Amino acid sequence: MESKMNSQKSLLKIENLSVEFCSRQKKFTAVKNVNLEIFPGEFVALVGESGSGKTITSLSIIDLLPENAKITEGTITFTGKNKSIIFQEPMTSLNPLLKIGKQIEESALIKGISKQEAHNQAEKLAKMTGLEDTKKIFNCYPHELSGGMRQRVMIASALMTNPELLIADEPTTALDVSTQNKILSIIQNLKSEFNTALLLITHDFTVVKKLCSRIYIMYKGKIVETGKTEEILKNPQHPYTKALIDSIPDAKRRHEKLPVHFGEWQNE
Ligand SMILES: Nc1ncnc2c1ncn2[C@@H]1O[C@H](COP(=O)(O)OP(=O)(O)OP(=O)(O)O)[C@@H](O)[C@H]1O
Ligand SMILES: [Mg+2]
Repeated sequence: MESKMNSQKSLLKIENLSVEFCSRQKKFTAVKNVNLEIFPGEFVALVGESGSGKTITSLSIIDLLPENAKITEGTITFTGKNKSIIFQEPMTSLNPLLKIGKQIEESALIKGISKQEAHNQAEKLAKMTGLEDTKKIFNCYPHELSGGMRQRVMIASALMTNPELLIADEPTTALDVSTQNKILSIIQNLKSEFNTALLLITHDFTVVKKLCSRIYIMYKGKIVETGKTEEILKNPQHPYTKALIDSIPDAKRRHEKLPVHFGEWQNE
């Protein structure tokens, strides 16, 4: 398995990437000598505490770094045609003045396909992400939809260009648990439907366990640990990774505690 992976050509290869912020003579390195590789169709997680550099790494990949940031070292090689990103809070990346239908279609029109084709494609993808009544929804503005629906719109828009790589930056943190699970299963289906590769940015190891075969752990701008999901879960090396894994809600342990609470409650 490992040797098969190694002989395959990577879809994305980040080598020795460093990103620096410059503000009034002050310099701050947000990403330090990062190496990261994703193979076609592979689901990979980038996990790290707040401020560790996950978003800045992903913005480097799609060429959308803020103006005061620059790549000071390293290379990013992408061998596919298209890559898309889904942001944490879709409200900030959807145009509030544009109806949903136009918004989804727009991302494909850039590619130069006809309006009708773009519309058909948008309808197909919207349905795939669980936006059933497309006639009605395509006529809505972003503020008229729920958070879960907006996230579905974001996924449908992202898929309009048939990206070989999808970056999802905390795609479900703003959503309630049941909507989270629905969005995650839509993302899970992308592998079998389109062979899309995924870079999933998250703090949530339960989600990583479900979706990703490999993990990169980021800490203070550096990749401090990487490996197959099951191996990292079994034998984490970095203290931050250990702490994260300890915080996974353990169904078995919760179950053991239950009779105690139940007993107390019954005695009242
Ligand atoms: N526009 C900016 N100007 C200056 N510093 C920034 C800017 N954006 C991010 N940073 C800094 O770069 C570092 C990395 O930020 P980044 O947004 O990549 O963290 P993150 O791992 O995505 O965190 P979170 O989990 O909270 O989203 C942080 O120290 C952050 O304060
Ligand atoms: Mg972030």
